[in-house]
Amino acid sequence: MFENIQPVIADSILGLMALYRADTDPHKVDLGVGVYRDDNGDTPVLQAVRRSESALLGAQTSKTYVAPAGNAGFNQTMERLVLGEGHAALRDGRVRTVQAVGGCGALRLGAELIRYADPKTVVHVSTPTWSNHTPLLSGSGLTLQPYPYLDAARGSVQFEAMLTALEQLPPRAAVLLHGSCHNPTGADLSQAQWRELLALVQRRQLLPFIDMAYQGLGEGLDADAFGVRLFCAELPEVLCAVSCSKNFGLYRERTGALLVLGHSGKSADALLTHLVRLARTMWSMPPDHGAAIVHGILGDPALRGLWVSEVDGMRNRILGLRAALLQALQAHIPQRDFAFIVRQRGMFSYLGITREQVRALRERHIYMTDDSRMNVAGLRRDNLEYFARALAQVLAKR
Ligand SMILES: Cc1ncc(COP(=O)(O)O)c(C=O)c1O
Repeated sequence: MFENIQPVIADSILGLMALYRADTDPHKVDLGVGVYRDDNGDTPVLQAVRRSESALLGAQTSKTYVAPAGNAGFNQTMERLVLGEGHAALRDGRVRTVQAVGGCGALRLGAELIRYADPKTVVHVSTPTWSNHTPLLSGSGLTLQPYPYLDAARGSVQFEAMLTALEQLPPRAAVLLHGSCHNPTGADLSQAQWRELLALVQRRQLLPFIDMAYQGLGEGLDADAFGVRLFCAELPEVLCAVSCSKNFGLYRERTGALLVLGHSGKSADALLTHLVRLARTMWSMPPDHGAAIVHGILGDPALRGLWVSEVDGMRNRILGLRAALLQALQAHIPQRDFAFIVRQRGMFSYLGITREQVRALRERHIYMTDDSRMNVAGLRRDNLEYFARALAQVLAKR
């Protein structure tokens, strides 16, 4: 059956990771892969995670399956983390949550649910969006279409163009939105823009599908959830895919959840039966470990406090790096405006250089994706200068 099968071209980020690993230069800088790094270039296990994990290992008495919907305690604490304690949708009993295999699993589960409800639904995604959104969502059989998002010259959202495009959509079209820390651009909607978008979504009766992969790494745990909380308070239906990979540092534990908001408790219950059924067709039962760790942290006031301070630490490091990077770039490349770097949020910024310039940086041992998305957290205080000088050299070459 497989004798004539041709290899696929490797995912560009995976290819970039391989190139970086093979580079033996001591100055090499990895701005490609989207993981948080500390000032030593490490992606450490959070203290709160370590403590929750040790307690878990001591207490666990069985490895039997949890349940198709996953860890009920985890699901509940995720709802409160995302929506905030006492959110109206929780009080009204309209939210149901299923544990998923990371944020990716949650995105796919949401897409499968939409496809089951109406296979002709088009999912509208920002230009640009995270490269894995396309295979994840279209893999369910749904069609994707782009809407304008980034104003590349300003490094911010071209909000009017976005609204104009979304205004043309038919009722029940799905719109994928990034809850915060837009990947790959770092350009987020302001609170006023979320409110304006809400009015449009209500008027056009669109279905928002919110991807929440970086809660806490932009402005703060509550501020980053502004959009999803607003939408869930005001709309009849919302899907929200949540990832614990970045803010809990649980990348390899594949921990995430899909939250769905239904018209009523009864319709939310019905939705849950379908989510469980769909999850059974993909992974049957979710992995236990990461969700149990998160539940252990969020359910314990002391561990939760420790985790919040660690998330604050990651966010503040990124914000500090953004400010220091801007300073270094202004010193080395005064003729170009890089102020967008401090306006953007989360791990990523689009540097706005050409593919050839990205390749020229690679010759200087600096690795980022061809679209010039850089993971700001991949920089260190001690290589900012090296990076700024290399970029100045590359930009000076015409
Ligand atoms: C925008 C976005 N959504 C979702 C995810 C999913 O993350 P994971 O499946 O690792 O939890 C990521 C990870 O990089 C992401 O950047």
